[in-house]
Amino acid sequence: MTDRILRFGVIGLSRGFVLTRPMFLKDPRVRLVAAADPRPEARAAFEAEFAGRAYETAADLCADPEVDVVYVASPHGLHVDHATAAARAGKHVLVEKPMALTLADCRTMRAAAAQAGVRLLVGPSHGYDAPVVRAAELIRTGRFGALRMLTLMNFTDFMYRPRRPEELDPAAGGGVVFSQAAHQVDVARRLAGAPVAKVRAQALGWDPERRAEGAYQALLTFANGVSASLVYSGYGRFDTDALVGWVGELGQRRSPDDYGAARRRLTGSGDEAELKRLRAYGSGAAAEPERVGHEHFGFVLASCEGADLRPTATAIEVYGDAREVIDLPPAEAPRQGVVDEVWAAVVEGRPATHDGAWGQANLAACLAILESSREGRDVLLPHGGDEP
Ligand SMILES: NC(=O)c1ccc[n+]([C@@H]2O[C@H](COP(=O)([O-])OP(=O)(O)OC[C@H]3O[C@@H](n4cnc5c(N)ncnc54)[C@H](O)[C@@H]3O)[C@@H](O)[C@H]2O)c1
Repeated sequence: MTDRILRFGVIGLSRGFVLTRPMFLKDPRVRLVAAADPRPEARAAFEAEFAGRAYETAADLCADPEVDVVYVASPHGLHVDHATAAARAGKHVLVEKPMALTLADCRTMRAAAAQAGVRLLVGPSHGYDAPVVRAAELIRTGRFGALRMLTLMNFTDFMYRPRRPEELDPAAGGGVVFSQAAHQVDVARRLAGAPVAKVRAQALGWDPERRAEGAYQALLTFANGVSASLVYSGYGRFDTDALVGWVGELGQRRSPDDYGAARRRLTGSGDEAELKRLRAYGSGAAAEPERVGHEHFGFVLASCEGADLRPTATAIEVYGDAREVIDLPPAEAPRQGVVDEVWAAVVEGRPATHDGAWGQANLAACLAILESSREGRDVLLPHGGDEP
């Protein structure tokens, strides 16, 4: 360990940032020194909380000499411009999921980083969650025999959280495949340990008021033969947190009595933009919830020939010849796995799991879900989505 600190600048101070903010506050290896956002109230809040510089434009942030790493947390469609601008300014880049909206944009971002000699990582996402990483390590030991099948299921209220119009427009990257399959595919790839070779899927939308896809079922076949079924619904009815001990996606305590809260807030308000504003950074958003577990993405089960492994928010349950529970107490700082990877890449020059190639392959699998659904056929990814 050195006394070095990675100095971050963030582009886009809203939900994505609100969820990653505790990582910057609690992990001693990183410091947030600058931000860019067109919203004055967000900039004022940033200056007050972090005593950093807050710029109106991404270009100004990228020109800040004190910034080592730019965290791109702007809306999906802006990732390509913001990540390439940061790389061209000589900054390392951590870009939110999904990496971009098209594979061509992913290639542009990777080329910009390669040309500038900086590192490009994609995240945070749930493939960084400690229980997933630990389960993948356990699978790789071979102790449980070959991995054969993955079952992932997440039921949330994603579609009824307040949204910008583009977030509900499939042509602009709206809907759950871009935003949520990005996580689920990441978890499945991490556990499978091989590229995705084939995708068959059905993406579904059944609320005429919110027109993007709100649910999907996908069958992924990996290059090593592992079969994964990914199920997601964001329609706010059943909630898979019920299967994870009522620990929420962020590791926070949840209550079954909150049933229907997102839908009720939305229908009760009539002003979605205002509801969205109230959840944004700088609007006096709700206090930090107490964390009782790790972040997670719903129900996950990895079936090996000799055991089923189930990463939860607090443990890995192993269903082998006997049942064993490997406890995983929550870490001191949330999203520690993200800092681990950025640190290893930027400070130690080591390869990263979630590099640009990984992010592009993730997007390729998500786009394949949409294509398979549209065309009613298998979609093959001969290079695992990392086509040149
Ligand atoms: N990893 C996670 O847990 C997680 C959670 C939520 C969102 N996200 C990701 O974060 C990204 C942003 O999503 P969000 O929900 O925060 O969106 P949002 O609409 O809540 O906020 C976007 C923010 O970007 C700002 N912005 C818009 N144009 C900008 C520009 N040109 N320069 C700088 N800032 C600009 C807006 O003012 C706003 O503050 C998305 O890619 C999303 O997938 C990730």
